[in-house]
Amino acid sequence: MNDSAKVAIVTGASSGMGMETARRFSREGYRLALGARTVEKMEKLAQSLDNPDRVYTAALDLTSPSSIESFAKSTQERFGKVDLLVNCAGVALGREPADQGNLEEWRTMVETDYYGPMALVRAVLPGMRAQGGGHIINIGALAALFPHPGSAAYASAKEGMRMFLKCLREDTLGSGIRITNIDPGITDTDFALTRFRGNSEAVGKLLEGFTPLTAGDMADCIWFAASAPAHVNIDQMTVTPTDQASPTRLHKR
Ligand SMILES: NC(=O)c1ccc[n+]([C@@H]2O[C@H](COP(=O)([O-])OP(=O)(O)OC[C@H]3O[C@@H](n4cnc5c(N)ncnc54)[C@H](OP(=O)(O)O)[C@@H]3O)[C@@H](O)[C@H]2O)c1
Repeated sequence: MNDSAKVAIVTGASSGMGMETARRFSREGYRLALGARTVEKMEKLAQSLDNPDRVYTAALDLTSPSSIESFAKSTQERFGKVDLLVNCAGVALGREPADQGNLEEWRTMVETDYYGPMALVRAVLPGMRAQGGGHIINIGALAALFPHPGSAAYASAKEGMRMFLKCLREDTLGSGIRITNIDPGITDTDFALTRFRGNSEAVGKLLEGFTPLTAGDMADCIWFAASAPAHVNIDQMTVTPTDQASPTRLHKR
């Protein structure tokens, strides 16, 4: 493709923050590689954007190393470069105390929120180094910043990813690569419904009397970090609803 526009990978583009981020970056003129397991939703999204022919959608399962490798390879083949990787995909499952945790669910969270994003970062780094710059933006979680009950596996996976990125910043210093971690509080997406295993009543109770962030708010924050001048690295950003002070302290009106 003879096109000099920047290329962004957005994971988790089939829903929530990833979907809004794809919309935002498409409006800003980026070419996009969208990855998630539900390809039909991303294809529908691509068709709704101004330039669907500049959007590549492909299956990506962050729990599968071969899926990550093939997604990164096919994106490189399609566009020849990656300027920005936005790691939006993520999952939390359950709220049980750690001594009642489900080990399979723990594995899913560690692979989706930590190992998979690390592997995808690893896959795009050589290209970014070779082109003299790039940007990795990771969506972490407020949950990773405060110990709180019922979140041991999810919070520690997100916290692990934060430390990986801090070390990466050391390893890539001088390469022109920027690294940003953004920790959102409660955001109105499908995330809570997945966490509560489809219990919409529990989600309704969580959000009752409370104004959460929207996926669009988070896309704005991602754009803010990405659109800063090349010499500015936004290292960490914590974004919460005004009525949320910590993972467990909400003000309900
Ligand atoms: N919403 C919140 O309150 C909140 C708060 C703090 C942090 N976060 C973080 O924000 C990020 C975005 O979440 P969201 O709120 O937009 O939730 P969401 O609407 O549930 O979206 C989650 C996305 O992750 C993708 N995903 C899940 N498992 C995957 C896998 N194995 N491989 C590839 N993609 C996978 C899903 O796509 P498929 O199912 O199609 O694969 C979906 O696109 C996540 O990292 C989440 O941990 C959310």
